[in-house]
Amino acid sequence: MARSALLNVMVQAALKAGKSLTRDFGEVQNLQVSLKGPGDYVSQADRRSEKVVREELLKARPTYGFLGEESEEIKGTDGSHRWIVDPLDGTTNFLHGIPVFATSIALERNGEIVAGVIYNPASDELFTSEKGGGAFVNDRRLRVSARKHLSDSVIGCGVPHLGQSMHGRFLVQLRHVMGEVAGMRSFGAASLDLAYVAAGRLDGYWEEGLSPWDIAAGIILIREAGGFISDLTAGTDMFGSGTVATGNEHIHKALLDVANRPVPKQ
Ligand code: IPD
Ligand code: CA
Ligand code: CA
Repeated sequence: MARSALLNVMVQAALKAGKSLTRDFGEVQNLQVSLKGPGDYVSQADRRSEKVVREELLKARPTYGFLGEESEEIKGTDGSHRWIVDPLDGTTNFLHGIPVFATSIALERNGEIVAGVIYNPASDELFTSEKGGGAFVNDRRLRVSARKHLSDSVIGCGVPHLGQSMHGRFLVQLRHVMGEVAGMRSFGAASLDLAYVAAGRLDGYWEEGLSPWDIAAGIILIREAGGFISDLTAGTDMFGSGTVATGNEHIHKALLDVANRPVPKQ
């Protein structure tokens, strides 16, 4: 599997952030039992990871823009390229000592995502993808699942947390979807949910209330693995709407239909 120079830069940044997160995750597991808990420590781990990624990426391409979750956006003098980064996706898992978290790095060119890397250091799974070059986990090529029916499918979703406004709508979607599928999963890291769809582990996934850094790298991974991904209206405004629905051609369509069913009459 040949990687471009740019993808190599992204991989190196993700691996370096992974080292930093692995050290901090060990400490979080110790702090789990302390009265104060690991909350403050996790915020620092998050910022440390972003600093590592930002430094690596901007060292390699100083003119590119940088949109990261934990710092002010850097516009960059090159108006056509932007890095989109979540230094720690799955913060709640990380905080609770659950080894399902990742660093997510995407490269946007003229408004289109052209490369993506998602790295979970706890499982040492490195998901990579470039436009036209396929999608991989470590050295293995990825393909979305081939299932045609929701009734055979395992579907992932995000569960809105305290303070988010869409609890009612989510419960309606969940009620509709879980009535049609073989199983539901919620792993708590949107980037990995998307990577798992690309890998055919999940047959489909939907979520609302997302930010560009949660999904940017996953978008290209899914497309390069032969999958379909859209916002919840079947349009392309995933960043603007903060919504995604994805799967293979059949499951993507079926999931959109079911998740958008109206609220049932009592
Ligand atoms: C969150 C995770 C989670 C999703 C949330 C995201 P964070 O990102 O991806 O799975 O349900 O909407 O905000 O806060 O862990 O980077
Ligand atoms: Ca995130
Ligand atoms: Ca984050």
